Amino acid sequence: DKSGHRHFMAKEMAEQPSIIQKALAAYTNEADGILNLPEGVQFNDIRRVVMVACGTAFYACQVAKYWFEQIARIPVEIDIASEFRYRDPVLERDDLLIVVSQSGETADTLAALRHVAGHVRRTLAVVNVPTSSIAREADVVMPILAGPEIGVASTKAFTAQLLSLLLLAAKAGLDRGKMNADDLTTLMSEIQAAPGLMSQALDRAQEYARIAEELAESDDVLFLGRGAMFPMALEAALKLKEISYIHAEAYAAGELKHGPIALIDKTLPVVIFAPRDVLFEKTISNMQEVMARHGQVILLTDADGAKLAGEVQNVIVMPKAPTIVAPLIYAIPAQMLAYNTALARGTDVDQPRNLAKSVTVE
Ligand code: F6R
Repeated sequence: DKSGHRHFMAKEMAEQPSIIQKALAAYTNEADGILNLPEGVQFNDIRRVVMVACGTAFYACQVAKYWFEQIARIPVEIDIASEFRYRDPVLERDDLLIVVSQSGETADTLAALRHVAGHVRRTLAVVNVPTSSIAREADVVMPILAGPEIGVASTKAFTAQLLSLLLLAAKAGLDRGKMNADDLTTLMSEIQAAPGLMSQALDRAQEYARIAEELAESDDVLFLGRGAMFPMALEAALKLKEISYIHAEAYAAGELKHGPIALIDKTLPVVIFAPRDVLFEKTISNMQEVMARHGQVILLTDADGAKLAGEVQNVIVMPKAPTIVAPLIYAIPAQMLAYNTALARGTDVDQPRNLAKSVTVE
């Protein structure tokens, strides 16, 4: 049931604010706003977090690495499951393995979990399907509570994964004494703001459609971002490839001059994720390098950023978001640009060619 939407993907994107709201309510005590995570989620005896996943779920891990490091000051290693399982990773007893999977059936992720079991203190599965193989085999399960995801391109599971991982990072911060009650209150109030900001980000329908008309004419698109916006750029490129079949690449903005700048000419759209944060000026200087070579810039930023960025061909003004939750907000344009571009190209959004919802073979 698409609830009046044209595609499951559209429905699932629209559901995101309410899913985040509900998951947040499920994982906090209403009375005191204190975290209420599944039994067994604790970081007191953990010295390192190792996170493993595939595809979009891996990008959620990539964002979470910033959160765990920043909030909990704990070392984090991340890898894609197909690499991790064959590279003989160094594991210690006091590592926590976190596997992230919407379906809970992804063959490489399941194999990575099995590979590690018995070598580390605990395994934790962040999954959408609580009855899945990965959920059954992990020591501890944190359901992301996104509800069934039908569209092949993952959307609501991604933002729900992000929320669960952010709450885990907060728990790690508390358990390790890196955050006090006041810090937690501040963080939780920033997280509480996310659903409303996500709704505002979804409201930019006309802007997404207008930019998508341009992207639909292109053979290649480049996405750039720094910090947690780098995985947003990766996610945006993956979504665009999957459902519009347009070739797309994403780079950390600082890598531009180490190679990809050679691609830039007047035919190349370059989508830049740049909320007004501590990295903003660095990213904007990369944007200027693109403009100097006549690339077609599409800047995603907030009102402050738009004012500071100067004259830019295309700007989509996003709501101003606290830096810590910005990935939840900027996931929306990553998805919406891909969706609208696929509409403009007339491709099959919910059933893209060659892709399966659940990858149970390696
Ligand atoms: C992208 C997408 C895939 C999955 C990946 C992992 O839109 O859906 O990249 O994220 O196949 O799947 P799960 O999360 O089920 O392990």
